[in-house]
Amino acid sequence: MAWLMTAQLLFLLLVAAGWGAQLRTTQARTELLNICMDAKHHKGKPSPEDKLHDQCTPWKKNSCCSVNTSQEAHKDISYLYRFNWDHCGKMEPACKWHFIQDTCLYECSPNLGPWIQQVDQSWRKERILNVPLCKDDCQRWWEDCRTSNTCKINWHKGWNWTSGYNQCPAEAKCAPFHVYFPTPDVLCNEIWSQSYKVSNYSRGSGRCIQMWFDPAHGNPNEEVARFYAEAMSGAEPCRAWALLLSLVLLLWLLS
Ligand SMILES: *[C@@H]1O[C@H](CO)[C@@H](O)[C@H](O)[C@H]1NC(C)=O
Ligand SMILES: *[C@@H]1O[C@H](CO)[C@@H](O)[C@H](O)[C@H]1NC(C)=O
Ligand SMILES: *[C@@H]1O[C@H](CO)[C@@H](O)[C@H](O)[C@H]1NC(C)=O
Repeated sequence: MAWLMTAQLLFLLLVAAGWGAQLRTTQARTELLNICMDAKHHKGKPSPEDKLHDQCTPWKKNSCCSVNTSQEAHKDISYLYRFNWDHCGKMEPACKWHFIQDTCLYECSPNLGPWIQQVDQSWRKERILNVPLCKDDCQRWWEDCRTSNTCKINWHKGWNWTSGYNQCPAEAKCAPFHVYFPTPDVLCNEIWSQSYKVSNYSRGSGRCIQMWFDPAHGNPNEEVARFYAEAMSGAEPCRAWALLLSLVLLLWLLS
């Protein structure tokens, strides 16, 4: 009954392969969770920071930003990136609030792992790409900035930096935000070169990243990162294939 032994051996091999795949995906998943990106100001790994400043306080239990970074995140032309929010006259405080919150999320969140990508840039080795930002967070950002002005869609490149902070390039005209960003999606997706990809999900769904949250109820972005890390590591198709093949073998054995 050599064929029976061969079949049994095959069956065992398949189960082992399924197991191995499962182990590897679990490992891949954990590697994407609770990490800091390798960028300009991020800490090596997340840890508690009791004294985080103002809008960055949601992350104080576990943070990728230092206290210094959280303070600088609230300043104009700060030492972080020398970025000038007021490049077309004063940015409205309600609008700036969202930019500060966006900076806090970027610098402090340990839950952006599933969207970290390697980049070849002088100022950072890693960036975030297509973070599923909650639709309502983006909507409010856009609404609160309608009355402020800007001169560019992509704020990552194309500025005149000769004076040490960004100024509008000569050909770029200042105009209200909605001229450059006709919809919330254009604002959130384009402003930082696709760092965000606005989600169809809303705050509290557990399926999109929130720009702020009440830390008294924990950090909702932890669950979101776990969900996408699992989806991305492709555990499901692997397991499904192993199961299907095992079944086929089993049927063949019994026939
Ligand atoms: C943060 O650190 C930088 C560099 O050491 C320093 O220039 C800056 O003044 C600090 N900011 C605050 C708010 O302490
Ligand atoms: C850049 O800004 C400086 C200082 O405001 C200005 O003198 C220069 O003409 C600008 N260059 C360009 C290319 O717009
Ligand atoms: C989001 O929802 C809209 C309208 O319901 C739909 O047209 C669109 O394809 C959805 N986008 C994604 C990424 O699911």
